[in-house]
Amino acid sequence: MAIILAIDTSCDDTSVAVSNDWTILSNIVASQNQIHKQFGGVFPTMAKQAHQVNFLPTLNMALQQAKVTWEDIDAIAVTYGPGLAPALEIGIDFAQKLAQQYHKKLLKINHIEGHALSAYARPHSDQPKSASFIPDTWPKLALVISGGHSEFIMINEPGKYEILGRTIDDAAGECLDKVGRMLNLGYPAGPLLEKFAQQGDASRFHFPQPMTDRHDFHLSFSGLKTSARLLIENLERQHQLESQSTYDLAAAIQQAVFDHIIYKFERILYSPDIEHKIYPDRETMKKIFHTALATRKAAISSAQPIQAILLGGGVAANMSLRRALRASLRRFEKQTHQHLPLYVPYTKKLCSDNAAMIAIAAVSHYYRGEFVTPGEIDRQPQLVLE
Ligand code: KG4
Ligand code: ZN
Repeated sequence: MAIILAIDTSCDDTSVAVSNDWTILSNIVASQNQIHKQFGGVFPTMAKQAHQVNFLPTLNMALQQAKVTWEDIDAIAVTYGPGLAPALEIGIDFAQKLAQQYHKKLLKINHIEGHALSAYARPHSDQPKSASFIPDTWPKLALVISGGHSEFIMINEPGKYEILGRTIDDAAGECLDKVGRMLNLGYPAGPLLEKFAQQGDASRFHFPQPMTDRHDFHLSFSGLKTSARLLIENLERQHQLESQSTYDLAAAIQQAVFDHIIYKFERILYSPDIEHKIYPDRETMKKIFHTALATRKAAISSAQPIQAILLGGGVAANMSLRRALRASLRRFEKQTHQHLPLYVPYTKKLCSDNAAMIAIAAVSHYYRGEFVTPGEIDRQPQLVLE
């Protein structure tokens, strides 16, 4: 068993967590939402200052809640990218100083790896092999859908990643936040859009499906954002942006964003050759969904090697997205008789930025002995997962 103290200051949340392998002992997040609300987005120098002020109280609370002392800690893990450079620096600086001061092993962790593996986290009271137990079979497909990232990541085995597709412009959460801002919903708007969407009729507004003519697994959300802006401006001009229109718009944009994710997700599921990233064309998809069983079987040429789906990132907290993914996997099972389980983090706190997911990602690095020496870690704002 490894007791890991993890630190994440990649964006606007200061977070410190303590874990015992995959069991979370504490996960403290000092949010800066109140500070950045006034700017409608994260202001990097303010984020840096707030990290500096919040770090030590957050650290002390994490140790206290986990009921551990420095003697119990086996290693310190810290996010070194991707993220905002001034924000990353603070976490790295504290991690290196603490490792030196308390003579602890040090691990540098990719923030996206944390989101991708966040479903592995287990609550303190959980028993091994309970509902959250994820079998050790590979490959798994991770969907990281957050405010900064939207990626399909193939995990071929622990530590071996391949990006199958990613957004070529805005992230899904960023798109929702920007549309929310146009509707004066505050920052971040994702959670409020979800609430509003429950009272709305998504069919009232139509958004064009992006990237259907591209034969790859990449995503794009900026076109949806532009369509939403034009729609909102139009409604405003006609004095029709009352509350029901806002609810309907929230429902429609949310559905359009999730439909796009599901569209590309299904292209991965039904790919005739995922190793070579072969994209099934529209005809094949039509055959799969709309023809008799025999033709369908012929269209699905090879068995999907993926063993399970992992969902992570801030937007993973959204219940409509989870429902849409589950429905898609049920369709997949009906068509192929192959069951693909979906694993989501056990609490919504593990979806948005937090240090517990960094501790979870650190576990395999710890057992592989991938330690670094203090002073060696460089922040990498554009770090990619490989
Ligand atoms: O993972 P995260 O905290 O930060 C990044 O690494 O980006 O994700 C934050 C994003 C924001 O865009 C926020 O609006 C979105 O996650 N979000 C949601 C929900 N909760 C948070 N989006 C849709 N529905 C939600 N319930
Ligand atoms: Zn994140």
